[in-house]
Amino acid sequence: MALLKKNTEIDFSKLPQHVAIIVDGNGRWAERRGLPRSAGHREGAKAVRRIIEHAYNLGIRYLTFFAFSSENWSRPKEEVDELMKLYLDYLKSAENETNDKNIRVKIIGSRIGLSPELINQIDKVEKHTADKDKMTLLIALNYGGRQDILQAVKKIVDDVQKGILNKDDITEEEFRKRLYTEDIPDPDLMIRTSGEMRISNFLIWQCSYTEFYFTDVLWPDFREKHFNEAILEYQKRQRRFGGLGK
Ligand code: IPE
Ligand code: IPE
Ligand code: MG
Repeated sequence: MALLKKNTEIDFSKLPQHVAIIVDGNGRWAERRGLPRSAGHREGAKAVRRIIEHAYNLGIRYLTFFAFSSENWSRPKEEVDELMKLYLDYLKSAENETNDKNIRVKIIGSRIGLSPELINQIDKVEKHTADKDKMTLLIALNYGGRQDILQAVKKIVDDVQKGILNKDDITEEEFRKRLYTEDIPDPDLMIRTSGEMRISNFLIWQCSYTEFYFTDVLWPDFREKHFNEAILEYQKRQRRFGGLGK
């Protein structure tokens, strides 16, 4: 049977456990239509909802979206405000939308700079979904990979000073546990839309052995079939982790 299997079919025994997505191209999508960038972000939010639903139905265990980077504060205030409003709206609806689904929601990144209302909503959704376990949805909000590593370093220093941890016991595993992603396994597949081929300070520690998939599709145009194409491409890769892959 395996030989007859078309190479357009997803092999469900080899699904990536964790898919991370750098959503990109919302602004260009809008600009090409003569619309304000905010229209692109709103359309992008719809695509996020669709892909969550699709990944959940496929059986992806961990799905991460890069929603707002620690560097995105440098955008015009109106755009930042619009984005923050979209995240708040999404997190409010997620409280209900996740009711009939077994999805745990976790927000990674710094809380510094976020509005009290948004922080409150983050806490509410995380608490509301804490016991769900079919899929974990991670939203990287005010996230930067370097900042993630630095905050982990500070936790390590604190623990060494408190005598909880010995310097000689600082292993990769101990370090990993103190990153924002804590117990979440590293991404197997990282998708970036819009043709940009860079990591933009996303999960830099966690992506050491991640497979990358780049597509020219702008994020608001990204559909279920594009997600499937990324999975199929991933399933053709041979991951070697420095060994010989045998
Ligand atoms: C991605 O789209 C969304 C965020 C970074 C928040 P962009 O806003 O970066 O869109 P482009 O890259 O300007 O087209
Ligand atoms: C990366 O996209 C950040 C998010 C997707 C939230 P950017 O559009 O901000 O990245 P650069 O500036 O093109 O590298
Ligand atoms: Mg961009």
